[in-house]
Amino acid sequence: MADQPFVTDIQTLRARARQHIERGAVTPGYRANRETVIKILNEALATEIVCVLRYKRHFFMATGINAQSVAQEFLQHANEEQTHADQIAQRIVQLGGEPNFCPEGLTTRSHSEYVEGKSLIDMIKEDLVAERIAIDSYRDMINYFGNDDPTTRRLMETILAMEEEHADDLASLLEELGA
Ligand SMILES: [Fe+2]
Ligand SMILES: [Fe+2]
Repeated sequence: MADQPFVTDIQTLRARARQHIERGAVTPGYRANRETVIKILNEALATEIVCVLRYKRHFFMATGINAQSVAQEFLQHANEEQTHADQIAQRIVQLGGEPNFCPEGLTTRSHSEYVEGKSLIDMIKEDLVAERIAIDSYRDMINYFGNDDPTTRRLMETILAMEEEHADDLASLLEELGA
């Protein structure tokens, strides 16, 4: 490896950047399978949208003695999932893809489920299950992106960290409520 330069020489780098400039952020050095990455990201997008919808439903339906504080937690999570959805959609466009916001097939593309839940405890439990599904599936995605697409990997690592926080919040709520 000693005779191998650390970076591609600057002339080659510049020449390559000029080719296919219509591809925007996707340079010839992009090593991942773009179609696959976009497909996976659209599944993550669907997962986030389903989470927004479920948390919104829970926010508006939360009733009972502990409803106020729990509802605020639901709302905060809904807003954070919306931010994740936007970040993922933006990355899909950067990669030259199209974010899929089609309501048809949304729950099939999503890894997490939309479960309404009857009681406040039910809702929190369903949200925790959904977060745990997202955590596992995002971890798999991160492994897949590896060093082939470090930008997408980093984005999903940031989102994963927040899903872990969400799961932790929900587990604490269940404990506080004695469930
Ligand atoms: Fe999220
Ligand atoms: Fe989450």
